[in-house]
Amino acid sequence: FMVDKGNHRHFMEKEIYEQPEIISHALGHYIDFASHTVKSTDKAIDFSKLSGLAISACGTAYLAGLVGKYWFERYARLPVEIDVASEFRYRELPLSPTQAALFISQSGETADTLASLRYCKDEGLKIGAIVNVKESTIARESDAIFPILAGPEIGVASTKAFTCQLAVLASLSIAAGRARGTVSEADEKAMVKHLAEMPRIMSKVLNEIQPQIEALSRDLSRFKDVLYLGRGTSYPLAMEGALKLKEISYIHAEGYAAGELKHGPIALIDENMPVIVIAPHDRFFEKTVSNMQEVAARGGKIIFITDEKGAAASKLETMATITLPNVDEIIAPMIFSLPIQLLAYHTAVFMGTDVDQPRNLAKSVTVE
Ligand code: AGP
Repeated sequence: FMVDKGNHRHFMEKEIYEQPEIISHALGHYIDFASHTVKSTDKAIDFSKLSGLAISACGTAYLAGLVGKYWFERYARLPVEIDVASEFRYRELPLSPTQAALFISQSGETADTLASLRYCKDEGLKIGAIVNVKESTIARESDAIFPILAGPEIGVASTKAFTCQLAVLASLSIAAGRARGTVSEADEKAMVKHLAEMPRIMSKVLNEIQPQIEALSRDLSRFKDVLYLGRGTSYPLAMEGALKLKEISYIHAEGYAAGELKHGPIALIDENMPVIVIAPHDRFFEKTVSNMQEVAARGGKIIFITDEKGAAASKLETMATITLPNVDEIIAPMIFSLPIQLLAYHTAVFMGTDVDQPRNLAKSVTVE
């Protein structure tokens, strides 16, 4: 069927702005808004008995998986082995049927992800697919299907599929935690309440930050290189921010774990390479701020993406500070995705690139 852009200039913009509604719909499949519990998911994977999880995917889907790793390990105490599918499939990773494997793919047709799936199947693992296209090959070859329900995603740069993948992974990690006795009934209620609030917070954030991000993007479009930093779940987000920027604005960007700064990339810091720091006021905040100080001390320009508490706590001078509302850590990755998507989008628009169809890229990579 036909999908149009509505009032938006690009599909990417439309897909960014439809996230509150789409996420709310997707969440409806995984959580019960009345009792604040996670609904029972596809029974083919029994999280209670697993010794570990393997996750494989490509690009943005891989980065969603990396956030999922932090959640499964923290909330469900389930060790996660994760790699990009093009490496995973050839690693000869020893696996056991006591583990399960999750494959994340918007299209469900990515060649390397499918090959990783078949490898795990041969090793006797139960297979779960986190997909947007339910009729896809990856979905068909899986034991359990966890749909992300994002609707058709047309822009080559993935936006709403990413946040929906995160919403599904958050729900599954809570479900796994309940099944394994590492998340209490009270914890589940509290976490699900936060998930349920997410659509409302997303629309508030999208409305509030747009003018500031648009103005900032004009400045950003003058630079050739950008460094993105984050810790904890903000680390995969930093890589996702860099990936988005590369894909559609063609600005060279790197996403790094903030703590790795002094192990190399700090040598690059000067006034010509802005450093975008993603730092909600979480348990890593102080550490990330000290990395920011290292950047500032070397004349680096900082774009600080934080929340109200974080903005109040930091005294550093920045090129820009984007202040989001204070939110619980379980929803922070989804909320903090919004400024990085908009930053890439508006920068690309200023540079006049083909936002929905960036050069050299295909929406779905069905060859190795
Ligand atoms: C994201 O913006 C990219 N276009 C790309 O990294 C994408 O996420 C990757 O190719 C995986 O695709 P899939 O989710 O359809 O498997």
